[in-house]
Amino acid sequence: MTRIFSGVKPTGHLTLGNYLGAVRQWAETDQHRADALFCVVDLHALTVEHDPARVRRLSRQAATLLLAAGLDPALCTVFVQSHVDEHARLSFVLECTATDGEMRRMIQYKEKSARARAAGESVRLSLLTYPALMAADILAYGADEVPVGDDQTQHVELTRDLAVRFNQRYGHTFVVPKATNPQVAARVMDLQDPTSKMGKSHAATAGIVYLLDEPEVVRKKIMRAVTDSGREVEYDREEKPGVANLLDVLAACEGGNPEELAGVYESYGALKKDTAEAVVELLRPVRERHAELAADPGYVDKVLREGAERARGMARPTVDAAYRAIGLLPAG
Ligand code: TYM
Repeated sequence: MTRIFSGVKPTGHLTLGNYLGAVRQWAETDQHRADALFCVVDLHALTVEHDPARVRRLSRQAATLLLAAGLDPALCTVFVQSHVDEHARLSFVLECTATDGEMRRMIQYKEKSARARAAGESVRLSLLTYPALMAADILAYGADEVPVGDDQTQHVELTRDLAVRFNQRYGHTFVVPKATNPQVAARVMDLQDPTSKMGKSHAATAGIVYLLDEPEVVRKKIMRAVTDSGREVEYDREEKPGVANLLDVLAACEGGNPEELAGVYESYGALKKDTAEAVVELLRPVRERHAELAADPGYVDKVLREGAERARGMARPTVDAAYRAIGLLPAG
């Protein structure tokens, strides 16, 4: 059976981008067609300036939202990364497989480190080695597929390279995984700055729809989205990125095709209105289910405890095999 692994980082509240680019597919298709693991990758949240209490809170909220979005613990494994030691164990071995040049070439590292330096902050070493930990997340479970938004594809490509290199050098140990992206909305853009990704850790929040935003807030954010000069509704990501983004979001909500949808609208206002309503309806059940689950933290804890136990059992043999293959002495 196909094995799937994916994760979400608790550095901010989950956004419409996370949902359309990743979480919705996990719930609607991936968990039904494969042996799937979905992880709140809290160690990754420590790679940038963080507040411990906030990371803890966001980790619980992210786990609750994954369940609210429809992940079913009877069908898939939902857990928190730091509850399973194998991730950190394997990460070091993969740091010893990768080169610093490879890490420095990662677009996210370049962007995030540049942003931190510009703000006068130091750059944590773990921000550079982040892709080794991400590779460990994936390779520890022998995942065949990694369903992610566009922005994570480069990290999954690096994971493939590391798996191939390790296997060639030390003997076959890892499954070589591949990234899968959704057909529409693999990169949802910021509503106020449609040339950059809608990111949960961005400081300016007017262009970001969070999964837990009230319907009125969602409507307001979408109605105020930056559109482009001209009046014609066309799907042109280069020339009209704001309009194209709205068309992508609407198409993703309604299951249509953004080019075809463009022909249906005569004004930006009408497009915004329908997009706002479609997003409100898409998120409504998630918000409602989140409120129910948040009132029952014992249930969420139990799911995470059982998930971690299952995950540990899957990861340990692979990580032990990697330790042996690379030359570490097994404990007697
Ligand atoms: P993270 O937490 O930034 O995002 C979680 C998932 O949401 C997708 N995504 C988007 N998709 C479309 N449009 C957007 N604006 C948008 N923003 C985010 C991301 O592509 C991702 O699929 N490094 C990862 C977490 C991670 C991981 C892993 C993922 C750690 N280990 C192993 C897969 C496998 C990250 O920061 O995702």
